[in-house]
Amino acid sequence: MRKLGILVTIITLGLILAACGGGTTATPPPPPQTVPPATTPPVATPPTPPQTPPAPTIDAKALYGSKCAACHGANREGVTGLGPSLRPSDHEKHTVAELAEIISKGRAGTAMPPFGGSLSTAEIDAMANFIKNVAP
Ligand code: HEC
Repeated sequence: MRKLGILVTIITLGLILAACGGGTTATPPPPPQTVPPATTPPVATPPTPPQTPPAPTIDAKALYGSKCAACHGANREGVTGLGPSLRPSDHEKHTVAELAEIISKGRAGTAMPPFGGSLSTAEIDAMANFIKNVAP
């Protein structure tokens, strides 16, 4: 009977300890870490793109004066015996593309020289447009 009494005491003590949490108190979870406000990284200014040089503006009038006026007249009125007039009113029959073609290739068998080798495509187009659309 004595053994039983000890056993009962141990069990009772065990129950009491269990009721009190057994002394193993769970450690409270650590307080949530305060996250420092996300600092926005400094915005790197994008490198300025290399400036594309502006297309050289073609001064068709000046070009005409230096390359064509001798044969076609200072005001594109034409020069008798040298070259026909190059005024818009006299070229309604030609398109800008046709005029550009003539300027580029010249007129074989005439005094009209080909300018394809000495003027750029842009310059030739500018001249064709000048003849077709710009009144002197
Ligand atoms: C050395 C003289 C000479 C020069 C310089 C010259 N031309 Fe001519 N051009 C002529 C002659 C001549 C004709 C006529 C050709 C023909 O009989 O078909 C002509 C014809 C043309 C025609 C065709 C006209 C038509 O009615 O069919 C165009 C367009 C023209 N020239 C543009 C130019 C331009 C633009 C320049 C300057 C970049 C130029 N020419 C420089 C002599 C010249």
